[in-house]
Amino acid sequence: MKILAIESSCDETACAVVEDGVNVLSNIVATQIDEHKLYGGVVPEIASRRHCENISTVVNAALLESGCTLSDIDAVAVTYAPGLIGALLVGISYAKGLAMSTGKPLIAVHHIAGHIAANYISHPELKPPYLCLVVSGGHSHIVEVKDYTKYHVIGRTRDDAAGECFDKVARTLGYEYPGGKYIDKASSLGNPDTYKLPKPKVQGSEYDFSFSGLKTAVINTVHNANQKGEQVNAEDMAASFQKTICDILLEKTMKAAERFGYTTIGVAGGVSANSGVRSVFEKACHERGYKLYMPELRYCGDNAAMIGCQAYYDFLAGKRAGQNLNGVATLSLDKLSEG
Ligand code: KG4
Ligand code: ZN
Repeated sequence: MKILAIESSCDETACAVVEDGVNVLSNIVATQIDEHKLYGGVVPEIASRRHCENISTVVNAALLESGCTLSDIDAVAVTYAPGLIGALLVGISYAKGLAMSTGKPLIAVHHIAGHIAANYISHPELKPPYLCLVVSGGHSHIVEVKDYTKYHVIGRTRDDAAGECFDKVARTLGYEYPGGKYIDKASSLGNPDTYKLPKPKVQGSEYDFSFSGLKTAVINTVHNANQKGEQVNAEDMAASFQKTICDILLEKTMKAAERFGYTTIGVAGGVSANSGVRSVFEKACHERGYKLYMPELRYCGDNAAMIGCQAYYDFLAGKRAGQNLNGVATLSLDKLSEG
């Protein structure tokens, strides 16, 4: 079964053709980062406009690269939640148009479910149930993946997402948006024991995250140094910060794995590309005899192949969307299991 999938929830206009949830025939991503970085973050209005301009070209390129025509496609999938509402609506409207004009079924995919599904592309042997840490620019979740379409969120962030924290710390250290990858690079040149940074405690749930205290600690250290006419060493701070956030992500995930009895762990989302995250999880899972799955780097950040993969499982579960499909800016993964 060939699914044409569209992703436009943030600042990437993406389209992919995926066969049977695993065989990626094409995966086109048009990023808008060069424009948004002038403003230090994604400007929703600009994102929607660029999606409108790019979507036809991106869909046509995905079809061309896959060697398929629309008549070879069995279903159209699109991200409908969560995300920037104007950005989501561009993909949704285009997908609805394609589905209606070709008479193919329409499948609405949750963006975080898509990130989780990226691991099925890179590791077809991975099967639920397992525990997945999803860390991206907008989300930080510890999720019980009970089945391909059933989830239970054990922990989530109370404030900033992990990627957002990377990006804000990066901006403070003078790197351009989105700075996660620059922190990663600088980290390899710095000493992680230079700066002592806090690991915030979260009241109420031991599996929830809070990153704003860590972010503020970095900002305060940098500003205090500047006020004294001194300079923080960016590489040492990047390394200290990366070590601290990796420890937090690892500690909570491993605690949840122990408590809920999982020995298979997934990590997904843009921040799963981070070399520190990858290495601390590899080491910890190896020591405990756990199986660890992380997507190939090209499927960590936003892409449409992961949406096409998840759409396949949603389709098998009987999920279909109608022409009344709307975008939803905020929607917990838990809600999917209720429907
Ligand atoms: O999954 P994603 O592409 O978009 C969202 O769904 O939010 O994640 C983007 C986030 C950004 O915050 C970016 O800085 C971060 O992933 N990121 C990284 C790395 N590569 C991307 N963070 C740390 N280290 C990296 N190597
Ligand atoms: Zn994402």
